[in-house]
Amino acid sequence: MSAEKILVTGGAGYIGSHACIELLEAGYDVIVIDNLSNSKPESLARVEKITGKSLCFVQADIRDKQALNDIFNQHEIYAVLHFAGLKAVGESCAQPIRYYQNNVYGTLVLTEMMQQFGIKKIIFSSSATVYGEPDSVKYTEDLPVFGATNPYGKSKAMVEDILKDLPIADDLSNYSNPWNIILLRYFNPIGAHKSGLIGEDPNGIPNNLVPYVSQVAVGKLDQLSVFGGDYPTIDGTGVRDYIHVVDLVKGHIQALQALNNSSGCRAYNLGAGKGYSVLEIVSAFERITGKTIKYKIVERRAGDIAENYADSSLALRELNWQTEKNLDDMVTDTWRWQSANPNGYK
Ligand code: NAD
Ligand code: WQD
Repeated sequence: MSAEKILVTGGAGYIGSHACIELLEAGYDVIVIDNLSNSKPESLARVEKITGKSLCFVQADIRDKQALNDIFNQHEIYAVLHFAGLKAVGESCAQPIRYYQNNVYGTLVLTEMMQQFGIKKIIFSSSATVYGEPDSVKYTEDLPVFGATNPYGKSKAMVEDILKDLPIADDLSNYSNPWNIILLRYFNPIGAHKSGLIGEDPNGIPNNLVPYVSQVAVGKLDQLSVFGGDYPTIDGTGVRDYIHVVDLVKGHIQALQALNNSSGCRAYNLGAGKGYSVLEIVSAFERITGKTIKYKIVERRAGDIAENYADSSLALRELNWQTEKNLDDMVTDTWRWQSANPNGYK
């Protein structure tokens, strides 16, 4: 029997490229569609180098129906891992139309074409941001998806809503090939593949904490601004649930296997279940890199919350998945990538 073929949208990006490695190593065939709006094809060349296997890359936009039509005609796709999307929170506030166009309309075109070809298994990259600002700091999947504070987060919540409607329509028309959808709500993915050959390569000044700190460590940036020192947390700085990107993509392999014998739409948190403060991250970097991370505590960043972390027990029960790597692994692997590739893939 030939290997199952997986279409990976956004496969050249940070998380998608790590997913390609896991997929190839698990024996799947991989077809990537990516418009390279936030990535370089070099990431895929390195995926092939790491795995010793080849994949099929199509440089195209998921909003391009003809491109999807060609892919679905040429390949019998078993399931889609849907990573393609724009993800910068600040940029989404400045360019909401572009974000909704790309993330929401893009998913509509993708699912419309999937339906046309009878491909009805999809795993969607959602985010803890869909929970908005709930009262509890430990997030369970039964919290309402409500109150995302920016267009990026709202685009994720909208796509979740759209995807939830697809199996409902199946029930009405009694299809024999039902939609089978898993929404994976990521917490804060960091780290890199252990080879140090692929990792996160943000454009310009990083918005997120760990890419910023690692660029301070490598000497590209002078000092970190710590956004807020007066939160009701362990040391006054924001607390988040950081998850190693390799653990995260392994969750997708487990989810793919769960798609085999189910239907409908289910959501799972993917997080480590433990939070670290900004200053704890800074001190882990100093210990592991041997560098001093200069920082200054400044005003809170608009839209930030004090603390959150995942309850990922549902993913353990139903997907047989849990994280294996700890904070030291995350920082060590981030540093291996950053120090060997101070300018990313450039
Ligand atoms: P990334 O920007 O590195 O990867 C996204 C990839 O999608 C890029 O290669 C980009 O070129 C491609 N892309 C974007 N729009 C496209 C389009 N219309 N057609 C084809 N390709 C397109 O981001 P990432 O960190 O790897 O994130 C992957 C997914 O996970 C995104 O959907 C993101 O919203 C989601 N997510 C990320 C995080 C995080 O912190 N990194 C957290 C939660 C959810
Ligand atoms: C982490 C902590 C900051 C930068 C975002 C998105 C979310 C998901 C993951 C997308 C917070 C503090 C940060 C800095 C700092 N993204 N910080 N100085 O905000 O939890 O989540 O990325 O797909 O949707 O909202 O992550 O890394 O930006 O911040 O002090 O220069 O670090 O205030 O407490 P966040 P982050």
